[in-house]
Amino acid sequence: MTVTPAEGANPLREMPVQDLRAHAAEALTRARARSTALTDAVDDSDLVRQHSKLMSPLVWDLAHIGSQEELWLVRDVGGRTPIRPDIDELYDAFKHARADRPGLPLLDPAQARAYVREVRAKAFDVLETAPLEGRRLTESAFAFGMITQHEQQHDETMLATHQLRKGDPVLRAEPAPPRRGGPLPPEVFVPGGPFVMGTSAEPWALDNERPAHETTVDAFYLDTAPVTNGAFTEFLDAGGYTERRWWSEDGWSYLREHGISAPRFWHREQDAWWRTRFGVYERVPSDQPVVHVSYYEAEAYAAWAGRRLPTEAEWEKAARFDPETGESRRFPWGNDEPTPSRANLGQRHLSPAPVGAYPDGVSPAGAHQLIGDVWEWTSSDFHGYPGFSAFPYREYSEVFFGPGYKVLRGGSFGTDAAAIRGTFRNWDYPIRRQIFAGFRCARDVSPGEMG
Ligand SMILES: [Fe+2]
Repeated sequence: MTVTPAEGANPLREMPVQDLRAHAAEALTRARARSTALTDAVDDSDLVRQHSKLMSPLVWDLAHIGSQEELWLVRDVGGRTPIRPDIDELYDAFKHARADRPGLPLLDPAQARAYVREVRAKAFDVLETAPLEGRRLTESAFAFGMITQHEQQHDETMLATHQLRKGDPVLRAEPAPPRRGGPLPPEVFVPGGPFVMGTSAEPWALDNERPAHETTVDAFYLDTAPVTNGAFTEFLDAGGYTERRWWSEDGWSYLREHGISAPRFWHREQDAWWRTRFGVYERVPSDQPVVHVSYYEAEAYAAWAGRRLPTEAEWEKAARFDPETGESRRFPWGNDEPTPSRANLGQRHLSPAPVGAYPDGVSPAGAHQLIGDVWEWTSSDFHGYPGFSAFPYREYSEVFFGPGYKVLRGGSFGTDAAAIRGTFRNWDYPIRRQIFAGFRCARDVSPGEMG
């Protein structure tokens, strides 16, 4: 069933066309400022180097951002003459695995910078005049929103490359805000029953978030906040990584094969855990959400704690459902955009913030920090919703559907506000640890707790 009425009001849908153009231009400009900062922070030899087999050289990401912008905005929406058709293939993510990209005849840093500048000038030209209706690709400036999100997603990937890079710190950020208010209750209750999952009303939502559809979940309890480093350390210190019983079969073989004994970037020194964070060596802060754990580690912790990971539907209900109106909100706090007091986004702090730092971002169920701080692993495989149709191309999401990928929700401190919302779905292999992923746990309501 496809339903639209139970979604919250959407500012973008009501915007006059000139405001929509200005909004799209501002979003593109913010993304470019970030891409520039991430690539200007290091020298040319750093830009062309592969810092990890898991990642592309930063200069590949930069030119790839330009290449996608050229394909969609300059050529498709604008109908303009191709700028560099000769490099399409080099920057097609499906043609070359990340590990092979350093060996390609890539644009050098100066050429890549000049290329993205030229593409952007043409894309702005297109944005000034393109009709923003009559075609699904340009309706509500969708193509511009899609390209903005694409650039921001690569910016988060480039931020992960910075985290893998060896050497002195080169990125600057404000310190994370302190906890506000008193201690949080350990868990919140989310009522059972139907709610609207996904969206048909969000103009810049991507194909995998669509369409809005009614989903029913049983009542459950969800952790009020993501699992902290302090709580995760208890699991470590209790021998969690050496006890077979907490791990799934796949998780255990992954652990053994890779010799994993703590979250990525953690080191044991005397009696304490330390971590490397963007070149800074520091004590692991106990009150921040744990980050850089794989799905398997999240799953094992949950088993040890007598809990489980939430399904993606449970996560979304806890984040969006307003029992008073029956509506699904765009964000946990309502339908308005994220602000610095609502969520830790956009690389503002270069780390998760302590749990309890964002009381303004709390959901109707009372859950904190569902948006921002850390991506949250869910127990769900990545699939299309009922009524899914690929748009604007199958390779955006559909080719990834299946049991190989787990869904992550909520965005991290490295996700920009333009690339996150209550319906946004990320997916990755359950072994991945370089992404800014943590988790929170859930549990069923026990028979004795039924009202
Ligand atoms: Fe891409």
